[in-house]
Amino acid sequence: HAPVAIVAAMHEELSALLAQMPDEQRVRAAGRDFWVGHLHGQPVVAVLSRIGKVAAAVTATVLLERFGVRAIVFTGVAGGLAPGVDVGDVVVATQLLQHDLDASPIFPKYEVPLMGLSRFAADASMGDALAAVAEAALRDPVALVGQAAVDEFGLRSPKVHRGLLVSGDRFVSTVAESDALRHSLPDALAVEMEGAAVAQVCHDYGVPFAAMRTISDRADDAAHGDFARFVAEVASRYSLVLASAWLAT
Ligand code: ADE
Repeated sequence: HAPVAIVAAMHEELSALLAQMPDEQRVRAAGRDFWVGHLHGQPVVAVLSRIGKVAAAVTATVLLERFGVRAIVFTGVAGGLAPGVDVGDVVVATQLLQHDLDASPIFPKYEVPLMGLSRFAADASMGDALAAVAEAALRDPVALVGQAAVDEFGLRSPKVHRGLLVSGDRFVSTVAESDALRHSLPDALAVEMEGAAVAQVCHDYGVPFAAMRTISDRADDAAHGDFARFVAEVASRYSLVLASAWLAT
């Protein structure tokens, strides 16, 4: 049957998973490598979208048009916004919004013009399954990322959160910026740069979409360094373990 797509923006977020696709075939399209193969016996297309909303939207469109995927899961890292959404936690989106979209006063702030919609719903049953898998994996952080990473990043009791994930073409790297986002979008759990764009494309095509992100930083003045260390050392372990467990269910 039709494959599912597993997408991350950067190589560091998906490298461990790509290494586990034994029969992958590389297909070039739109300047990207699409890895077509199997993971846990399930047909999968894995791809690196590159960073930002346009890059993500193009990637999603190619996945749907050329590879006929039946669902898209976006994974990788995000900056924590809401209190208690800490480094090493996992956020599974229920809704996604573009925080840098503002065509006011012609349309309400955040609304996608002519769609009458600012929040795109993620697929609830995929979200339930991903959250269950994440809950199980986070019970044993040492098994997930190793003792050294648990110590380095302080991953004592990582948590799973579900709710609003916001996306924009901006790496949020100051307290001033993350405060502004918390103020205007008080229910936003975390911020990244692709999810809501893919959610919009999947909405247009009527294909289920889910986003599962690991918190790499708090979108504050230390975000840049925290993000770089987390991505270099542990991000791909999370995506490998969680995506494999999900596909095995
Ligand atoms: N992805 C991970 N951390 C982020 C941040 N602080 N801003 C935007 N995208 C991110």
